[in-house]
Amino acid sequence: MSIQEPISESILASPAKINIYLKVLGLRQDGYHELDTLFYPIHGLYDTIRIEPGHDEHMFMRCPENPDLESTSNLIYKAWKAFGEATGYQPGMFVTLNKNIPMGGGLGGGSSNGATILRWLNENAGTKALPHDELIQLAVGLGADVPFFLMDGPARAQGVGEKLEASDISLSGFTLLLAMPDLHVDTPWAFKAWDEKQESISIKESLTTPANLTKNSSPDSTLVVENDLESIVFSQHPELRSIKERLMQSGAMAASMSGSGATIFGLFRDRANAESAAAHLEKNGIEIFMTACS
Ligand code: C5P
Repeated sequence: MSIQEPISESILASPAKINIYLKVLGLRQDGYHELDTLFYPIHGLYDTIRIEPGHDEHMFMRCPENPDLESTSNLIYKAWKAFGEATGYQPGMFVTLNKNIPMGGGLGGGSSNGATILRWLNENAGTKALPHDELIQLAVGLGADVPFFLMDGPARAQGVGEKLEASDISLSGFTLLLAMPDLHVDTPWAFKAWDEKQESISIKESLTTPANLTKNSSPDSTLVVENDLESIVFSQHPELRSIKERLMQSGAMAASMSGSGATIFGLFRDRANAESAAAHLEKNGIEIFMTACS
């Protein structure tokens, strides 16, 4: 066992994401899918991870609101273990996770938690720290959405999610409304259903980033917002289609499912429209989150 410097206490914010667009390009031999997606971080919606010094080279995890998450299958634990195996830096720690991001909602909460731990470990690993590309490789071994959360802003992802390119898209000027129904969509099921819908499973040619989603796009530009998994998930959960329709009828410029759902997001130019949509959804028992994009 190596002697390691004691760690200091840290409180970290682990943000959610949405997929502005998500194209599924084809099934790979390893069962994963080649994607082209634009991730956008939602810094106002985040889980909190508190790290405190622990004993020896052990991790002890608490999740007061959801003890089911206190498990070695949690990406926080997996990230700590994988980082230790890759680098030899595995400090003992107590981790307390406070969840705000709904689970299984297409908002990347678990992936974000894992990436947040990877980042913290890498920042504290001194000479054992990994270069960014090696950290990305470690991250994709934990989950396809994990590498994105090692970036500092919006990013286009290809491959299964590990080929990342920072994007200068800005949603500044929009109000973002997330409708988060109490519904869990099984991601492997959604991708499998997509496979079954395809006539051919050959990899299609990669898309280019929709040109009108650029940093300089004003709220008046037409947004390209789409999700290839949406029609599959909507056919199984028609209530999600109704939520999207409600957002559009309420004046959203665009609305779409995030990831494999079940979260539906709407982008509004007019905050009052977003507020009236939010009030309607809440009255119908749907959890919402609203933020002015900066
Ligand atoms: O990597 P992660 O565990 O987040 O992926 C969950 C599931 O989603 C995978 O087991 C796979 O079925 C599906 N998936 C996929 N292609 C991707 C990402 C996820 O098929 N690019």
